Amino acid sequence: MSEILKMTNISKIFETEELETHALKEINLVISKGDYVSISGPSGCGKSTLLSIIGLLDMATDGEYLFEGISATELTLDEAADVRNAKIGFIFQSFNLIDELTVFDNVALPLRYHSEQLTNKAIKARVIECLDQVGLSHRITHKPNQLSGGQQQRVAIARALVAKPAILLVDEPTGNLDSKAGDQVMELLNSLNRAGTTICMVTHDPRYADMATSKIQLLDGTILQAPSAKIIR
Ligand SMILES: Nc1ncnc2c1ncn2[C@@H]1O[C@H](COP(=O)(O)OP(=O)(O)OP(=O)(O)O)[C@@H](O)[C@H]1O
Ligand SMILES: [Mg+2]
Repeated sequence: MSEILKMTNISKIFETEELETHALKEINLVISKGDYVSISGPSGCGKSTLLSIIGLLDMATDGEYLFEGISATELTLDEAADVRNAKIGFIFQSFNLIDELTVFDNVALPLRYHSEQLTNKAIKARVIECLDQVGLSHRITHKPNQLSGGQQQRVAIARALVAKPAILLVDEPTGNLDSKAGDQVMELLNSLNRAGTTICMVTHDPRYADMATSKIQLLDGTILQAPSAKIIR
């Protein structure tokens, strides 16, 4: 399987005036195409920090991070943003949709912003394809506040998929949802993975963590348990 990213001895220290926090300590991690990785652990153990570094939203203090063979430390901020926009889809607990835009325009946004070469017709086809994947192509003219929480998260998933990223990074996707809507979002992520999408997901829910094929347990910035052997599904 081809490698998407590789971390070697990644550490992250946050420095404030009085305090130094060692949020990550010597993390080693490889994620390959098609993987479904879950990251769990207690509050403050470094899960979101790890996801931010994986997603090139933040830089490690120490260690080596290769994304598709490119060293993160050698990227300028603009180059990191370009890689992020082209290659990484983000899904957060708070759906981060734009209230003033329709479902269609929310999902189209990454394509309009980054792929000026796409025609309106091509954008429309791709947006509808992604909304179909999440079961919401009948809601394209709705605004986010006219949708349920679960539907809003599915729109956010369609937006994360629209630019065909190499990996989806997901932080507590069900945190703002009731258990039924949460289960539906997780079923959707599972089916996307079965169709080939690579996923790295932070979750505190052991039921959801167990759905992944590699499980990472973080404690105080350190990986407790190496990714388990791949489960064949
Ligand atoms: N920008 C920052 N400046 C200073 N310290 C930070 C910063 N971001 C995170 N930290 C610290 O780093 C540690 C890890 O934080 P992180 O947000 O990664 O935890 P988490 O595992 O995602 O927690 P939760 O489950 O509550 O979301 C915490 O001690 C936190 O206080
Ligand atoms: Mg967090």
